[in-house]
Amino acid sequence: VTKGYGVKGISDLGLKALPEQYIQPSEERIDMRKVLDKESIPVIDISNLDDPEVAHSIANAAEKWGFFQIVNHGVPMEVLENAMEATRRFFELPVGEKIKYLQENSPTKNVRFGTSFLPKADKVLEWKDYLSLLYVSEEESSNYWPSACRNEVMEFKKKSEIVVEKLLKILLQRLNVDLNSKESLLMGSQRINLNYYPICPNPELTIGVGRHSDVSTLTFLLQDSVGGLYVQKMETDHWIYVPPVDGSIVINVGDALQIFSNGKYKSAEHRVAANGSNNRISVPIFFNPRPHDIIGPLPEVLKNGEKAIYKSVLYSDYVKHFFRKSHDGKQTLEFAK
Ligand code: SIN
Ligand code: FE2
Repeated sequence: VTKGYGVKGISDLGLKALPEQYIQPSEERIDMRKVLDKESIPVIDISNLDDPEVAHSIANAAEKWGFFQIVNHGVPMEVLENAMEATRRFFELPVGEKIKYLQENSPTKNVRFGTSFLPKADKVLEWKDYLSLLYVSEEESSNYWPSACRNEVMEFKKKSEIVVEKLLKILLQRLNVDLNSKESLLMGSQRINLNYYPICPNPELTIGVGRHSDVSTLTFLLQDSVGGLYVQKMETDHWIYVPPVDGSIVINVGDALQIFSNGKYKSAEHRVAANGSNNRISVPIFFNPRPHDIIGPLPEVLKNGEKAIYKSVLYSDYVKHFFRKSHDGKQTLEFAK
């Protein structure tokens, strides 16, 4: 019998109480009194992106909320369901199969199975296991991604790319930036995370993912029907629940787009609650600059004499900064100030 691993290993033991190292300080837990139940992030039908009103809703959501959901986006329902099913299949593999992808065992550094955020450095752990896949090439994916999920995840990535390109085009048009000349800078690298949040004893004492903003340009997030994602309402200490909407995709602005747009589009803090009765799956795809790219406010944005509020930094340094310490809201952005 192979010993369990991560939080699924703990969950499978059927413990009655949450192990102590997962008990978060109360300020990190989700306080339902701070959740605004009368507000929600926009759900935008993007079937007609040529409609100026649709374009306006997208840009407006990226400025005001940093988060929105899209429906009628053109990614077939089957592709979404297959990606979700494939994720479940991977996590339900015997632990001996999964630990082949732990950092120390993985055949490539671009495929990594793990748990929590920074299990070696965090004072308190987060209730999440994941498989993180950095896309390098079709060939690497077919050779090294786990066969339990590789084809389905590849297909999902391919379809999502088309949508993200369209959304970015709209967001950039408003800044007088032509995406064609900036595509590799803005979305030249993609990372796909398969997240698994197993059933948790005492879910109210811990967190699936702590407060953070993404380091991406845009994140394309598929969540199943369990729910648990909360977004901070900008400039407040209030939170908004992001309900699962069948067939929808959650889009969020990452720090890189906040920097490129000189603060016009904003990344929002978000976090994920643990759940006491259901396993939850989510599959975010992070559309990122490449590690060697320099990110800073785009020249087109500053043309009108606007002052740059961020400095230019090497993207790999920015990402390193994010992974240097526990989740801490939007602190990473300080690195570009
Ligand atoms: C994350 O933001 O890290 C995960 C989001 C989710 O699981 O919904
Ligand atoms: Fe995130």
